[in-house]
Formats: sequence, C-alpha cells, structure tokens
Amino acid sequence: MSLLSTKHLLGIKYIQAEDIKRIFDTATEFKEVINRPIKKVPSLRDVTVANLFFENSTRTRISFELAEKRLSADVVNFSAASSSVKKGETLLDTVNNILAMKVDMVVMRHPAPGAHFYLSQRIPANIINAGDGTHEHPTQALLDAFSMREALNDELAGKHIAIFGDILHSRVAMSNIFCLQKLGAKVRVCGPPTLIPKHLHKLGVEVSHDLRSTLEWCDVANVLRIQLERQDIKYFPSLREYHNVYGINKQLLDSLDSEVVIMHPGPINRGVEISSDVADSDQSIILDQVENGVAVRMAVLYLLSSKEEKDA
Ligand code: CP
Repeated sequence: MSLLSTKHLLGIKYIQAEDIKRIFDTATEFKEVINRPIKKVPSLRDVTVANLFFENSTRTRISFELAEKRLSADVVNFSAASSSVKKGETLLDTVNNILAMKVDMVVMRHPAPGAHFYLSQRIPANIINAGDGTHEHPTQALLDAFSMREALNDELAGKHIAIFGDILHSRVAMSNIFCLQKLGAKVRVCGPPTLIPKHLHKLGVEVSHDLRSTLEWCDVANVLRIQLERQDIKYFPSLREYHNVYGINKQLLDSLDSEVVIMHPGPINRGVEISSDVADSDQSIILDQVENGVAVRMAVLYLLSSKEEKDA
C-alpha cells in the first residue's frame, strides 16, 4: 500500500502538496542515513525494481540505482539501445516480459509524453516517471525544491523562484512549476520569447524576457540547458548570441544587490546558459542537488512501495 495519495509518481501535477511534504520529511531522514558510515537500510528488502531507460541519462539513472541499493532492493537495469526494442517489440510487451520475472516497481524514462500514464492503466507494478519527453520529470522537481528549502533554510511559500532558459522543451520546467506552486512559491520564467510556451501565463506563472531584472527579483535561479536535441528549427541565431543575452556569468551576479542561489538540473552547457565561474562558485548548489537526489528518490521509492515498516 502506497503511503502517498497515489500508487504511481507520474507527474507532480497528479500529487498533493501533502505528498510533497511527506516526501521531504522522509528524504530528510534518508539524507541522514546516507551520510552514515553504513549507508544501507533494509526498507525495500525483497522488493525488485526495474530501471527502464529508453533515453540517455547520467544523473537520474545512477541516482535511482543508488537509492534502490541503499534501501536493499533488488535492482535490474534495462537500456533500450541494447534490448529487443530494436527488434520491434512494443513498450507494453517489453514491460510485461520484465514484470513476468517478478518485478514490483518500474522506474522509467521514455521520450514519449504520457508513456507512463499509458502503462499505469495496463500493468500492476508501481511506476515512477524518470522523465517523459517534454512533459514531466517529477523527481527532479522534488529534489530541486528540497535543495531550495535547504539553501534558503526556510519553507518556499512566498519565495521568488525564477526558471531560466529553454522552457519550451523542458520537462524539468513543467514539474518545477507545478511543485513550486503547490508549495506556495512565486514562479517566474525568463528566456527568449521563442523558448517560452505562448500560454504559460495561464498557469499563473510570470513571464519575463529580461535576464537582469529577473535575477534582481528572484531568491533562487534555476538555470536550464538549451535542448538542441529536441529543436528541429532555429529558436535563436547562435549559441554565442544566446550566451550574450541570456548567459549567467559571475560579473553579472556580482553586480546585483543581493546574492541569488544558483541551480541547474544538469547536464550543464558551460559557456552557454551558465559560465564556469558561476557553475563552480559558492553561490551554486548544483552538486548539492545531485546529492539530495539520492535521498529524495529513496523517499519516493519507500513511500510508494508496499513495505510499511522502515528501519531508517
Ligand atoms: N537532470 C537529469 O535528468 O540528468 P540526466 O539526463 O543525466 O539524468
């Protein structure tokens, strides 16, 4: 029985603010656990988790695998590139064959928005969305919000959070918007008009095309990469011009009246959306985000799994 209001984590849009707070409380406990000399707890012993990655990943795949192993789950990894998907097998057949080997939970990244929803109506296992096309990346938003609370040493209600860059192609942006709004933060997006969806303001998000005034407004800047692999047309003249207008560098940050917390979900494009002197500065919490990702994913796995006893 899930300890959240839902059996699956398909997106932040489909969970409650209370779920998010419960995930944060549990992640705080697990963060303490993974900083002990012995980092493992038996919470998911006898639970088998399959990590199904139909798209490339470094952080999310390794972070989920570590989270599962820290919880003592049995783990199987699947990569589409070396699988029978290449021979024409359907998604549902692939997943059903894996589930026939007694798998309890599925963590999946897939390029098709809604692939997780489709599966959730057809298979018995819990499903966690590790990114579906340009739709949602819920655990990234949870670890981002968890890291913001930690950096600000405060709850996010009333805080000003800005998301910069390629909003149009970003599942991280969508999940961040839903998550931050559920936590009561004020959200603004900033980027060139071509990279911001036309109807985004209808979600209650402020839209700006001015980098400096948005940096002056925000407590936290979550900087996103330009997703060239999802862009089939030109949205701006060149990467150099993008950097000149929307790139965040240390000189700009140092000229502001107050210090902004700098975040990035990765992978970063140094010298495009963010310069190295910002990414590697004391203002940046990029590697804290990665560290927190393991604790947050442990919390999600634990709370969704059928195991009710925790030995943290
Ligand atoms: N942030 C993120 O999703 O990174 P990966 O694509 O490396 O998993």
